[in-house]
Amino acid sequence: MSDPKKLFIRTYGCQMNVYDSERMAEALGADGYVETDSPDDADMILLNTCHIREKAAEKVYSELGRYKGLKADNPDLKIGVAGCVAQAEGEEIMRRQPMVDLVVGPQTYHRLPEMMKTVAEGQKALDTDFPEEDKFEHLPKRPLPNRNPTAFLTVQEGCDKFCAFCVVPYTRGAEVSRPVDRILREARDLVERGVKEITLLGQNVNAYHGAGADGDWTLARLIWALNDVDGLERIRFTTSHPNDMDDALIAAHGECEKLMPYLHLPVQSGSDKILKRMNRSHTAESYLKLIDRIREARPDILISGDFIVGFPEETDQDFEYTMSLIRAVQYGQAFSFKYSTRPGTPAAERAQVDDALASERLYRLQALITEQQRAVQNAMVGQEVGVLFEKPGRLDGQMVGKSDHLHAVHVTAEGIAKGDLRRVRITDSGPNSLGGVLIP
Ligand code: 5AD
Ligand code: SF4
Repeated sequence: MSDPKKLFIRTYGCQMNVYDSERMAEALGADGYVETDSPDDADMILLNTCHIREKAAEKVYSELGRYKGLKADNPDLKIGVAGCVAQAEGEEIMRRQPMVDLVVGPQTYHRLPEMMKTVAEGQKALDTDFPEEDKFEHLPKRPLPNRNPTAFLTVQEGCDKFCAFCVVPYTRGAEVSRPVDRILREARDLVERGVKEITLLGQNVNAYHGAGADGDWTLARLIWALNDVDGLERIRFTTSHPNDMDDALIAAHGECEKLMPYLHLPVQSGSDKILKRMNRSHTAESYLKLIDRIREARPDILISGDFIVGFPEETDQDFEYTMSLIRAVQYGQAFSFKYSTRPGTPAAERAQVDDALASERLYRLQALITEQQRAVQNAMVGQEVGVLFEKPGRLDGQMVGKSDHLHAVHVTAEGIAKGDLRRVRITDSGPNSLGGVLIP
């Protein structure tokens, strides 16, 4: 038997892409590829790209530039670009980087083995369709070697919200929910292979409305069904839109035993004027009320958010409203970005905020978030939490896992194995992680 071909995948952007990369590796696995950690000895390099901000696409082009030498040394090396830059730029990628052999969008990667045949014949392959068939049904069964105890599971893709800054509705297409039975089947399959925590993924996951035997199900109902899957210990979901947090989903945070106390709920801005211009269809006040209701249901829930600063026409006052909202919420985690013009989106046509001013706002906002993150993390000291252990730590005998609130936790103790879910008392809080001891 000939040696397996080596596949190097680099993933940019969101968790959805992490999931897609895994599935692409599996699709190519059926074609004889095994994954490698280095591009240097790869037979195929695949970049799974993100188009959400400008720099992300530029990074992809400069990364491709770096592979020129590898391709010169090994003309048989195949180079592919997948994901949202592939979807948005299509043939432009092959024009800018002629060494690219394959371009595949997020909705067509189940066709990779077929595309690889074209590439093997020395031709270029490009597929950025939005096909009728369900790609998940055309992918091989997940083989999951050396499975981690945590896994992502895509339940919904695309978005119909059309926030004025965002490319997702164009690159990932209209909102589509996967049917309930297929999700439950995939979840059980993951659990059988040792997975204990599943994060349900979707660009707008709480808009989930997949077909069940008795009509469409909500995300809350899906979570309750997963709660009954024996062997599954933890459920998470991301990313949510404030307008789709229905009563049942809020209540589930208080009542559903396996649903973890962590919610990523992007607000983007604290100014009603800017929210309106962003086409967000919620206000700062409605968001704060929603957070109150969620905290009533689950007082210890850790709230995470996304922010954009320097959106067109954002004044100092608008920015101060964002800072006030952050102070009111107390975030445990947040991702913040300078607005980046995305061609084809409504906001792209509008007057831009001065870049230096936007940078200064981002700096101030991130300093506030860091302060809050630390405070939330420090407040865990003395508390008892569940930790799902994932890998050895740097110190001898140390294991690292994630707490219920998604904090990294280090514990040094005998007999902790990967995949163990244990009760831990938090004893100290470092810059990026917590330390603790096992509760006997
Ligand atoms: N510029 C800056 N940030 C953006 N995001 C989405 N589009 C843009 C853009 N054009 C951010 C939002 C979103 C997160 C995934 O990325 O905050 O929630
Ligand atoms: Fe983009 Fe808005 Fe949809 Fe989120 S809700 S994916 S920010 S359009």
